[in-house]
Amino acid sequence: MSMGTITAAYVAAAILFILSLSGLSNQESSRRGNWYGIIGMTIAIVATILNPAVDSYGWLIIAMVIGGAIGARFALKVEMTEMPELVAILHSFVGLAAVLVGFATYFDPTANFSGAAKTIHDVEIYLGVLIGAVTFTGSVVAFGKLSGRIGSAPLLLPARHWLNLGILVLCILIGKWFLGAEHGAGTTALIIMTLLAFAFGVHMVMAIGGADMPVVISMLNSYSGWAAAATGFMLSNDLLIVVGALVGSSGAILSYIMCRAMNRNFVSVIMGGFGTTSGDAAEGGEQGEAIPISAEEVAQMVGDASEVVIVPGYGMAVANAQHPVSDLTKILTDKGVNVRFAIHPVAGRMPGHMNVLLAEANVPYDLVLEMDEINEDFPETDVVIVIGANDIVNPAALENPNSPIAGMPVLEVWNAKTVIVSKRSMATGYAGVENPLFFKENTRMLFGDAKDSVDAIRGAL
Ligand code: TAP
Repeated sequence: MSMGTITAAYVAAAILFILSLSGLSNQESSRRGNWYGIIGMTIAIVATILNPAVDSYGWLIIAMVIGGAIGARFALKVEMTEMPELVAILHSFVGLAAVLVGFATYFDPTANFSGAAKTIHDVEIYLGVLIGAVTFTGSVVAFGKLSGRIGSAPLLLPARHWLNLGILVLCILIGKWFLGAEHGAGTTALIIMTLLAFAFGVHMVMAIGGADMPVVISMLNSYSGWAAAATGFMLSNDLLIVVGALVGSSGAILSYIMCRAMNRNFVSVIMGGFGTTSGDAAEGGEQGEAIPISAEEVAQMVGDASEVVIVPGYGMAVANAQHPVSDLTKILTDKGVNVRFAIHPVAGRMPGHMNVLLAEANVPYDLVLEMDEINEDFPETDVVIVIGANDIVNPAALENPNSPIAGMPVLEVWNAKTVIVSKRSMATGYAGVENPLFFKENTRMLFGDAKDSVDAIRGAL
C-alpha cells in the first residue's frame, strides 16, 4: 500500500473515531458509535499492517493470533460487574506498550538524529516512557483494588507528599542527564527513571481510597491516552497521536465529570487519603431499627401508586436483575403508574454502568433520568424502589460532615413518601459507610437477592 493511501486510511479512521466518541455520548446513538469505532479500528490495523515499513509478517501474525485469542476469551467470559477491572488491566497494557516502544525506539540502531531533532526525539522517548510506566503500575494497582485483591483503604505513608515531590524532582534531574547523554549512553538514566515512575504509579493509586476509585479509573483512562499519543510521536504515527489525544482528553473530561459528581477536587483526589473505611465510617452508634417488608406488600404498594422511581445500583448488576426490572416497569406502566429511573453518575462500578444495563434490558431511554433531572421530584414520588444501591442514596453524605463520603451529591430518595430498599443484608456498600436511610421511618427493607425480589414483586402483581 502506498504512503498516500495509508495516510488517507488514517484520516478516515481518525474521522470514524471522532464520530464514534460523539455517538457514544448518547444512549440512542451509542450502538452506531460503537460500530464507527470498530470500523475505524479495523481500517487502522489493516493500513498499519500494509505499511511498506512492515516486513516481519510471520511475527505479526503469531502475535495477533495469540493476543486476539486472549482478548476474545476475556471479553467473552467477563461478567458485566467485572468490566471495570478489565478496563483497568487493559489500561495497564497501553502503559506497558508505551514503555516497551520507548526503549525499543531508544535502542533503534537505524535512528540517526542530531541537534534539535535528537533532543525532540529523546524528549518524546523520555515522556512516553514516564507516562507509560506510571499508567502501567497505577492501572495494575487499580485492577487489584477493584477486584478486591488489594484492600480499598488508602495507604498513607508518612511524608507521602514529600515522597511524591522527591520522585518528581528526581525525574526532572534524570531527564536532564538523559538528554545530555550521547546516543545510547542514556540507558542507565532511562532505566532509573522507569523504576521511579513504576514506584510512583504504585504509590499514587495505593494512596487513593475506595471512595475515589471512579475518578482513578477515568484518570488512568486519560493517562493511557497520553501514553498512546506519546508512542505515536515516537513512532511518527499520526493516527496514534490523534487517537491518543482523543482518549487522553475524553478521559480528562470524564475525570472532571466524576469529580463534580462526587463533589471532589481533582488535585485532592490525586493527593490521596480520602475514603478511609475506618474512623468516622460508623455514623455513630444507635441507628434505630430497620423495618422489613415482603414482596407482596411492595407489589400492593406500587400497584396503588401513581409516581414510582426506581434507583438501580451495583447490586442490580450483581444480581443481573435488569430484565425483571424492565418487565416490572412494563407491567406498572401498563397499569397507568408513572415509572421513572434515577441514575447517579457513579452508580455501579464504572461510568454509565446502569445506563448500559437498562439499555440491554430495553428500558425506554426517556424513562431514564440523571440525578440532577430527578432529585427535586422525590417529594412528589409515592414509592422509590432502591435496587442494590447503597452509597448513592446515603443521606450521611449530606448530613454528616465526618462521613467519608461527606459532600458527595446523592439521590435524595428519603424525601419520597415511601422508600423500598432491595438488598440482601444490612451490609455497607463500596465506600464501607453505614447508611442511615435504612433506619428512616419511611424506609422498608426488602431483603433478598435483587433478581428474586423483583421477580417476586412481578409475580404478586
Ligand atoms: P454500593 O454502594 O457498592 O452498594 C451496592 C449494594 O448492593 C450493597 O450494599 C449490597 O448490599 C447490594 N447487593 C450486592 N449484591 C446484591 C444482590 N445480589 N442483590 C441485591 N443487592 C445486592 O453501590 P452503589 O450505590 O451503586 O454505589 C456505587 C459505589 O461504587 C460508590 O461508592 C462509588 O463511588 C463506587 N464506585 C463507582 C465507580 C463508578 S465509575 N461508577 C467506580 C468505582 C467505585 P448487600 O450485600 O446487603 O446485598
